[in-house]
Amino acid sequence: MSQRVLKVGLVGGGGGAFIVWPHQRAIHLDGTRRVVCGALHPDPKVAMEEAEKWPYPIQGYPSYDAMIAAESKKPIGERIDYALIVTPNHVHFDPAMKLIKAGIPVFCEKPLTVTLEEANKLAAAVKKYKVPFGVAHTYLGHWTSRLSRAIVRGGLIGDVRWVDSYYIQGWLSERTEDKGVMQAEWRVDPKRAGASGCGGDIGTHALMQLRYVTGLEIKRLSAHLEIFVERRKLDDHFTVYCELNNGGRALVRASQICIGHKNDLGIEVAGTKGTLRWVQEAPESVTVMMNGESDRTYWRGCVGPDSKDGFIEKLGKETLAALAAESTIPPGHPEAFHDAFGRLHRCFEEDVRKYNEGKPFSCDGSKYANVEDGRMGIYFITKAVKSSAAGGKWVNM
Ligand SMILES: NC(=O)c1ccc[n+]([C@@H]2O[C@H](COP(=O)([O-])OP(=O)(O)OC[C@H]3O[C@@H](n4cnc5c(N)ncnc54)[C@H](O)[C@@H]3O)[C@@H](O)[C@H]2O)c1
Repeated sequence: MSQRVLKVGLVGGGGGAFIVWPHQRAIHLDGTRRVVCGALHPDPKVAMEEAEKWPYPIQGYPSYDAMIAAESKKPIGERIDYALIVTPNHVHFDPAMKLIKAGIPVFCEKPLTVTLEEANKLAAAVKKYKVPFGVAHTYLGHWTSRLSRAIVRGGLIGDVRWVDSYYIQGWLSERTEDKGVMQAEWRVDPKRAGASGCGGDIGTHALMQLRYVTGLEIKRLSAHLEIFVERRKLDDHFTVYCELNNGGRALVRASQICIGHKNDLGIEVAGTKGTLRWVQEAPESVTVMMNGESDRTYWRGCVGPDSKDGFIEKLGKETLAALAAESTIPPGHPEAFHDAFGRLHRCFEEDVRKYNEGKPFSCDGSKYANVEDGRMGIYFITKAVKSSAAGGKWVNM
């Protein structure tokens, strides 16, 4: 018999919300997970109305407290298998902590929390209650991020000397927050967004991409958090020069004021033997440039255990077979943003099923970001804010 479909409960997602929809599509991508309920809005009445308006039947709850109380009373199989938190940043900590304590796995949006203190508490609680916990760093879910990680961590481009990891947007280049755009309103408010605007919102993605692909950590940093748009309290331009723990250097940068840039996230890793380049707006291939050789472009679905070109087979048959198995459709039928989210939920599902059966689960950060990755994001932001306030002074991590 086929396996039971996992039940997912939403925290947030009503009233014209954004990121709940890519998640919702990704949850349903494989037919093995479905959204069954949600606390969709802070106003209990609106929360119930929004659930009524949902495109397919789900159970509405007036608040996430009510959802957690009701669901945690049910046995595994009847209750939600995991909760997805898609609220603004200041409403991550409270529901996440309550869900962890109720033994319900959590997939939480980034940045993990608004303060380091909260992030530390969540990381400690996950350790104590041993509940699967994922953080929605979307771009790790691209097949090409998996390949980039294998190439760089496998040493194929040599020792890492330099990384440029960036996320550049233009949608906050004017006072978008005055135009009734709810996504902009809370992102420029320190109480709801956290101590850094642009850095917390998308600089954390750039940091995560660097850490995921290279396996390196930031040792010291010098940051400049800048505000270009009048009457803003939080940075809309974020530039951090970093020393890596292998002695290499990196730039982790983000901006929301660069007109014309949409979701221009990318990474370039320069090693002692070659350079790897990947951009998420063209996410189906990775380019590797080796010293004295023609550039190589690797497309999703075109790399497997039998690949031979004098380079990629150095990854070994096992790694190449594992990579090939993660590709969903033939190359040329493009995977993109939703597929990346889908891959994260698919991998999280594996850990949730093991958890439900009382088996060990990995949650080790190799397939999706975990709570420690989320905590590192907030730690990095906290240090960057400190450095910037001191005029870009070098600060140890
Ligand atoms: N991973 C990504 O690529 C990505 C992209 C965009 C946003 N995000 C993150 O997702 C989160 C949401 O961002 P968004 O742009 O979708 O925001 P949004 O403003 O579009 O939606 C927020 C939702 O949370 C709900 N909400 C607020 N307080 C609530 C409460 N107390 N109880 C229940 N619901 C509540 C709102 O009603 C709304 O439905 C943020 O943390 C953001 O950083 C991540």
